[in-house]
Amino acid sequence: MLRRLSAAAGGVAVVFLLSACGTGGSVSSASSDKQNGRKLFQDKCAGCHTLSAAGSSATIGPNLDASFAQARSDGFKESAILDIVHDQIKFPGQYPVSQNDSDYLKANMPADLVAGQSAIDVAAYVAANAGKQGFAEAQAVTGTNGKQIFVTKCGGCHTLKSAGTTGAQGPNLDLLMPPFAIVKNQVIKGGGIMPAFKGVLTDAQIAAVAKYVAKHAGKP
Ligand code: HEC
Ligand code: HEC
Repeated sequence: MLRRLSAAAGGVAVVFLLSACGTGGSVSSASSDKQNGRKLFQDKCAGCHTLSAAGSSATIGPNLDASFAQARSDGFKESAILDIVHDQIKFPGQYPVSQNDSDYLKANMPADLVAGQSAIDVAAYVAANAGKQGFAEAQAVTGTNGKQIFVTKCGGCHTLKSAGTTGAQGPNLDLLMPPFAIVKNQVIKGGGIMPAFKGVLTDAQIAAVAKYVAKHAGKP
């Protein structure tokens, strides 16, 4: 079951399509606000999922471009993908979690991160964009611009006013105001659902994002 995270994307999406039957029912995208969905995605989902349209590159949950590229090319309608995503928000699986064993998830997806109209908006946004450009790779951050690194790698989980992010999975860094050494250590090692970034970001990038956070946390 856990293997499906690394399994071929088409299989994954089809599993979800089948499991979607009889749970949440069908949702119409006619009344959705995808602009709002994009904002909500960046706040609530980007910390765990790669979606190239949203500029997110997290790897805790499946890469949503990969999950839906195959389904899309197999001719699944956008409305079917919307239903899958909407059901996933309501009924995510709960699986064994282990930081160390690569066969296990790093974290479970919490249920009801968004509800009601917000859930429809996010699902419609994902359905309109996931896999549109094929199997997009997780967007690589190449430079050492601390703010840019923060927005793509950290902002989905952390609020930091200076970067314009409002994630709430991790502590609000404006309130925490952590010094450089603490941020750097946390980024290298991770903790809780926060992934370790050693090997994901270069040493220079880790130093750059830590410097950026230490300098700007608690400031406008
Ligand atoms: C704390 C991390 C986390 C957050 C935040 C999160 N997810 Fe997930 N998501 C996961 C994990 C882990 C899985 C795989 C396990 C499962 O299916 O529940 C997953 C699975 C999915 C899947 C199924 C894809 C597949 O190939 O199996 C979709 C769709 C999805 N998430 C959408 C969302 C949306 C939309 C949001 C925001 C409302 C969101 N996720 C927020 C961790 C997260
Ligand atoms: C998937 C969500 C997620 C992502 C992505 C994430 N964090 Fe975190 N972060 C958390 C959580 C949850 C905690 C609290 C965990 C703990 O108690 O160790 C945390 C804690 C922290 C702390 C507090 C450390 C302390 O000792 O008080 C800092 C600083 C931090 N993160 C910075 C970052 C930076 C910088 C990035 C990007 C390179 C990042 N985080 C990415 C979820 C995340």
